[in-house]
Amino acid sequence: MKAVQRLFKCVLRPRVSVYLLVSILGITALACEEADRSSNAANGESETEVMLDQGPSTEAFVAPATKPAQWRCSYSNPFSLAAECKAYTDTDWTEAEARADCEAGQYEEAGTFESGNCDLSPILGYCDVAPYIGDDYRLFLGGDNPDLCNVSGRACVVNLKGEFLPSEQCVDRYSPPEMNMSTSSVFEWPTLSCQAPPEGEQSGQSENGEVCTWNLISGCTEAGRDYYEYGSCDTVYTNRPYYPVPGLPAGDESDPRYSDETYQQESNWVKEQVKACACVCCHDDRAPRGPSTWSVDAGPLWVNTMSDTAVAMFAGYIDSSSLGAFMPEENNGFDRIQSAMPTTDVQRMLAFFQAEFDRRNIDPAWAENVRPIGGPLVTQRDYQPEACATGIGVNREGVINWGSEQGVRYLYILEEDANNPGIPPNFDLPEKTLWRIDIPSDQDPLASGTVRYGEKPSQSIQVFPETQAPQALEEGQQYYLYVMRDVAIPVERCVFTY
Ligand code: HEC
Repeated sequence: MKAVQRLFKCVLRPRVSVYLLVSILGITALACEEADRSSNAANGESETEVMLDQGPSTEAFVAPATKPAQWRCSYSNPFSLAAECKAYTDTDWTEAEARADCEAGQYEEAGTFESGNCDLSPILGYCDVAPYIGDDYRLFLGGDNPDLCNVSGRACVVNLKGEFLPSEQCVDRYSPPEMNMSTSSVFEWPTLSCQAPPEGEQSGQSENGEVCTWNLISGCTEAGRDYYEYGSCDTVYTNRPYYPVPGLPAGDESDPRYSDETYQQESNWVKEQVKACACVCCHDDRAPRGPSTWSVDAGPLWVNTMSDTAVAMFAGYIDSSSLGAFMPEENNGFDRIQSAMPTTDVQRMLAFFQAEFDRRNIDPAWAENVRPIGGPLVTQRDYQPEACATGIGVNREGVINWGSEQGVRYLYILEEDANNPGIPPNFDLPEKTLWRIDIPSDQDPLASGTVRYGEKPSQSIQVFPETQAPQALEEGQQYYLYVMRDVAIPVERCVFTY
């Protein structure tokens, strides 16, 4: 029998350095609500198998034809944090239109408008977009880390419905996404499932010998057990998109590690740790349509399926703290605050990946310069709110307005200088929150102008304060309004005077 308890709050003690990861695209796609989360296996052969059957791509790189453009817009991509340039390639663009488009910003921030075509180097590729409404353009996706080829190329194809033309450094590293991507579901709030182990298995460490497991991408069951058995991958698939991506080749017997017992013992221990955690929902061969890049089931040298960026992150060189983590005591002892890969033995985990880092001869100077993983989560964490436009905020009647047609699922009123709310489990309830209500994924979101401060709508859950009414707002004081359409998708965030 599964008992389910909703995660109400998680203590915030960010000691932070490095840990967990979800790739940038995961977050990109999460932010853009575009991705395939279907969990039907159905169609047999995974992309990985197809790729291994065919061997590496033999297609020669053909430099895409240059496309003339009279104007360009330069900015940095908030997901990859790399330089990006938009070339106004369509002859229908007028200077005024192109300038206005650049000032409106390709993402959130305005770009720098100049005449002449983009000339960005190094680049991962071009993204040619022919929108249904509006004129064609080409994005130059900057960057020199080929580990980001898939992420960037897929963001082009999936989010912008563009055509991605990989540069030379990406041509062998890019695999196009499957095109039957359905629109995504809503982020399911984490729940804790407790159940007795099946007969014959050792009893669990929670009350009455049960095993308790968080249903969240950062959750782990007890070490030595299987997350598929005790956690809910279906919930985890709502936390970030799942789709199969071929990993790097796994290697064979010619590699001495293949039959090195000491190495195999460590590698199997890492694999066992992964199997206990939600990562396994997408990173072993049971993932519905095959694993997402690396797979712990890829044989004795499974670690080869990971990119250098992944290895550098797990070895502790790249910060991914914006992605959130449980305290180990709430997560069956698994720590991902000090290790990007959740683990019950931080030193042992870091040592395994440091050895792999050294074996691959990865340059530490390079690794330390890879920007923090988390894309928009990093940007949202560091966001500096401005004053609300007139009419936005809580008015004298207590009515909350965010000046947008968009419905929201997460509504916060915070003290003016509170931190920005982030993702669960450890960033979603910043100190100085005055009132927070959530709308569960099976209920309709809230519309602007329909909620009064402190009056909980019936379909909502008041997360803070847990029981009482919130502290009254004081006339003339400033407060921070933060509303999100879904986890990590803010609709409005600004400071208003009550
Ligand atoms: C719901 C599915 C899902 C879950 C759960 C998940 N990932 Fe992933 N992960 C992906 C996908 C999809 C990609 C590939 C992104 C791309 O390249 O398009 C990926 C890529 C990665 C990469 C980059 C791999 C590389 O070789 O560059 C790392 C590292 C990673 N995941 C770590 C983790 C860890 C650690 C966990 C558990 C805490 C985890 N993932 C849980 C779906 C998932």
